[in-house]
Amino acid sequence: MNIVIIGGAGVIGRKVAQALIARGHIDGHDIRSLVLADVATPVAMSGCRSIQVDISDPTSVADALPEGTDLIYHLAAVVSSHAEADFDAGMAVNLTGTLNVLQRARELGTCPRVVYASSAAVYGGDAPDPTHDLTYLNPQTSYGTQKVIGELLLNDYSRRGFVDGRGFRLPTISVRPGLPNRAASSFMSSILREPLNGKEAICPVDVGFLHYYLSPRLCAQNLVMAAEINAHDLGMDRNMIMPGKMWSIQQLIDAMTAVAGPEPAKLIRFEPQPEVEQIVRGWRYDFTSTKGLALGLMTDSSFQDNIRYYLEDDQP
Ligand SMILES: NC(=O)c1ccc[n+]([C@@H]2O[C@H](COP(=O)([O-])OP(=O)(O)OC[C@H]3O[C@@H](n4cnc5c(N)ncnc54)[C@H](O)[C@@H]3O)[C@@H](O)[C@H]2O)c1
Repeated sequence: MNIVIIGGAGVIGRKVAQALIARGHIDGHDIRSLVLADVATPVAMSGCRSIQVDISDPTSVADALPEGTDLIYHLAAVVSSHAEADFDAGMAVNLTGTLNVLQRARELGTCPRVVYASSAAVYGGDAPDPTHDLTYLNPQTSYGTQKVIGELLLNDYSRRGFVDGRGFRLPTISVRPGLPNRAASSFMSSILREPLNGKEAICPVDVGFLHYYLSPRLCAQNLVMAAEINAHDLGMDRNMIMPGKMWSIQQLIDAMTAVAGPEPAKLIRFEPQPEVEQIVRGWRYDFTSTKGLALGLMTDSSFQDNIRYYLEDDQP
């Protein structure tokens, strides 16, 4: 099995690579090659090769996805606040880039598997709660709109037999390692990560703010499992909600306190940020992931798991 992870320098891309290397095989086949492809230089990781690709450029995508590629993880994106601030960048990467990846996969002529990272941001507006797999897609951001179009393309390319696609509407991944990014959800990790590392963090919403979360560890394990799902079990929509759990900011802080003691929570400062609030208040948070759970995807048992996984896997 020859695997390329596009967006391989990103947080989830690196986690998926680690999970694949630990496994060594997928769907009964040994992993022959594993390539991390990204516009940024991926960090060196033993067991895989790193290359540069800009998915907005079809020639670059063709170089990154050579003949013989069996499995493609398409995890590259211009994330939510960035795509909202820079419409052209979001369109070039999230829309044109996704089309370029699918077109190249089609050109391979071997119906490669494509695992696509969509987002819970495909839902929103006046759709009724709780949100489930079949709730109509009503994104309230350019990022969410670009992800919806990616999902539809994934379905059509799969229906035509060009690719064997499977798309996952990811919950917000927390506790995310590394530095804050330009996702509107970035604070949902930084209010935990920075205090766990003895640093101050700003929370732009109140403690009652509800959201839908999954740990990076289980997200990566789910994406590995995703590549092994039998195409017939995916039904007539290749996309689904990846299971997560709904928690309030207060529950996140309580989980941190239960695992790491009372000191970290004292480093959180509450300070409204209207531009972030405007985006995140439009997101749904009450999800039911029927299809993903039925297919065996996993979720964390409590937010204390998310804190523990961060301390075990990622704390510098
Ligand atoms: N982390 C989350 O909470 C979350 C939630 C919902 C959806 N997602 C989706 O999951 C995927 C991975 O998220 P992540 O948290 O690892 O994000 P990330 O920002 O860490 O990684 C995304 C990667 O895409 C790369 N990229 C951007 N433009 C590119 C281009 N033109 N060509 C090639 N690579 C390019 C970036 O350099 C980056 O390494 C994304 O598609 C994101 O939209 C993430």
